[in-house]
Amino acid sequence: MATLLVAGCRGGWTAAERDLIESQPDVMRVLTVDDEADLIILRTPCRDISPRELANPLYAELASRLISTVTSPEQDGVGIAGPQVGLSRNVIAVQRFDKEGEPFEVYPNIRITAFRGEPEPGSEGCLSVPGRRGKVLRWRDIDICYTSPETGQEVSERVEGFTAVIFQHETDHLQGILYTDKLVKE
Ligand code: NI
Repeated sequence: MATLLVAGCRGGWTAAERDLIESQPDVMRVLTVDDEADLIILRTPCRDISPRELANPLYAELASRLISTVTSPEQDGVGIAGPQVGLSRNVIAVQRFDKEGEPFEVYPNIRITAFRGEPEPGSEGCLSVPGRRGKVLRWRDIDICYTSPETGQEVSERVEGFTAVIFQHETDHLQGILYTDKLVKE
């Protein structure tokens, strides 16, 4: 009973999750498929972030660290997902090439709810699969749905072009899927 109360005081996040987020510098370690223990986490499906967990300052800290990590010179990526920093949680950061200034934005509890047109092949890489690239079929016109951390409401949005490809790559990570599972022949 005492344990349950303590867990409740953390605003839903587990002690291990809090440690993982707070014990690292702004740039978090990125897990890779080359490490056996990392691979298990990269293959684990994620769970959603509850309203209480979103309201906890730990979420804002995590969101900021995801951006610091993906934009760090050693990573220099266009997107990153929870499992890549060791968290089996539904959260991704994506560079919005479709917006002015191409900002990075963080999306909790994200799902793709519609795919339009035909998928087209494009070259991809992944921070968790160092030194490789490959062709994958992706849609260029999708709808996304996520929870707004500000209002707690579900938000839907249409995304087109290369940014839509990033959303598909990152949401795959949330189900333990890597782009290397989907390679098409050159
Ligand atoms: Ni990736």
